[in-house]
Amino acid sequence: MATWSAPGKLFLFGEHAVVYGKPGIAMAIKPRVQVTVHRSRYAQRPNSPYIAECLDFLNVKGSVYVKSQLPSASGLGSSAAVTVATLFAINDEFQLGYNKEEVTEFAHEVEKITQKGRASATDTYVSAYGGMVLIRGDEKRRLIPPENFSIVIGNTLVPHHTVDQVRKVAEFQKRSPAVANPILDAIGALTMEAMHNFENQHELGILMNRNQALLNALGAGHPALSRMVLAACSAGAYGAKLSGAGGGGCIWALCPRTVRHRVISAIEACDGKPIPTEIDMEGVRKERDQ
Ligand code: PMV
Repeated sequence: MATWSAPGKLFLFGEHAVVYGKPGIAMAIKPRVQVTVHRSRYAQRPNSPYIAECLDFLNVKGSVYVKSQLPSASGLGSSAAVTVATLFAINDEFQLGYNKEEVTEFAHEVEKITQKGRASATDTYVSAYGGMVLIRGDEKRRLIPPENFSIVIGNTLVPHHTVDQVRKVAEFQKRSPAVANPILDAIGALTMEAMHNFENQHELGILMNRNQALLNALGAGHPALSRMVLAACSAGAYGAKLSGAGGGGCIWALCPRTVRHRVISAIEACDGKPIPTEIDMEGVRKERDQ
């Protein structure tokens, strides 16, 4: 038996555009997923397509148990965390001997297969290594997280489906490249601006709001997200935007510590669920077997 856990993530800037080779910035967050793998003689069909693909990918038979503190289908990277923790636990339980880099790359492959070819390495990389990371194609640059980075996550409780959202954007890009490509380019440029402005929270808030507007233009919005973003900003946040594929799921708001409680109340007033969080610097880790 082997038990591993991996953190969720917040997509800070650049989601969707990152699938088209533009830069994206994501950060690992404290809620975790814990996965236990047992060898077994018979193949079990897990409910999660990600877990089924992990077992197929490494060609092993085992039973997999998941304990999650992360809401699923919410843009906080629960599928990636499950995939990462499952592959590391399989590697350990079956003593396959792959190193961290290899298992992390397998996690990206599993996400790509499960998401029909369209998945950036962002979620799996950030979940495996923790911290804050800039991803652009194959390039991964670890960023120094700013101090005093006070964020509040709000879950709209509207489930989203990453695969459908990514497909919708791909269809838009194919049908109207003259409209979609400049939006994707603008998101990429804005992400680079954000990277140089992490110490300036006022400016970062403005960039978040612009990124949110561009995600709406791309078709990744949802009325529940827009409502929560506006409510958080009205309550005093520097800025707010969705995290992940959109169409539902979570927002994150950057706010002065003094207005944190007001932003939390604003999220609740939108029938949403505030999620307390902080950055996870650790990434995937082995847990004691229970
Ligand atoms: O909704 P999530 O947390 O799975 O994030 C998806 C982010 C996308 O950029 C839309 C897709 C990707 O693979 O990066």
